Amino acid sequence: MKKILVINGSPSGKKGNCARFISSLPKLNAAKLSVVHLANESYSSAFKKEIAKADGFVFVTGTYWDSWGSPLQKLLEDMTDLEGTEAIMGKPAAVFVLMHSVGGKGVLSRLQGVLSTFGCLIPPMSGMVYSLVSDIALSKKNSHAADFWQKEDAELILLNLIKASEIKIDWADWPVDKKDPRRLWL
Ligand SMILES: Cc1cc2nc3c(=O)[nH]c(=O)nc-3n(C[C@H](O)[C@H](O)[C@H](O)COP(=O)(O)O)c2cc1C
Repeated sequence: MKKILVINGSPSGKKGNCARFISSLPKLNAAKLSVVHLANESYSSAFKKEIAKADGFVFVTGTYWDSWGSPLQKLLEDMTDLEGTEAIMGKPAAVFVLMHSVGGKGVLSRLQGVLSTFGCLIPPMSGMVYSLVSDIALSKKNSHAADFWQKEDAELILLNLIKASEIKIDWADWPVDKKDPRRLWL
């Protein structure tokens, strides 16, 4: 069974919409999902171990002024030393972005870009945006519905993530200055 680490980047942690979305994710026989709500968790060595043990990642965030949640930004900054390491390299990442109405696709694409740069594998059809606008639109029968991202798409995204976690490739990694990415240069 694959170990999937679900990372909730919402500032509202366990009490927000992202947490509700995570609770609604389908249970799949092939994977065990464990959830970290970044707003309620610090970047500890135990958390680093969870990252290292995972076969794949699911990132969930709302859209906040056109960007991902501040706890997720903090995590990306904190885990900079994991770039290109065994803990990350080639592990697939799925991304779910929530929003009210605008900005979420930009968040999805940029986050997938950052995760790829970190060393994650971005499988095909492994990310979606779900909005309040869609939620309202989908509450009525609509011939365009198939063209909207829907909560049900989460299942195929997780299935693609699990399939991608089977891929074993000895990826080449670029040299990164791991000594101190924060040191002064000016
Ligand atoms: C401070 C703040 C900024 C937001 N900015 C946007 C935005 O730019 N675009 C949008 O469509 N929704 C925006 N939203 C709505 C959230 O993305 C949406 O409600 C999301 O589901 C929040 O998840 P959460 O409750 O887990 O934080 C914003 C919400 C908050 C609280």
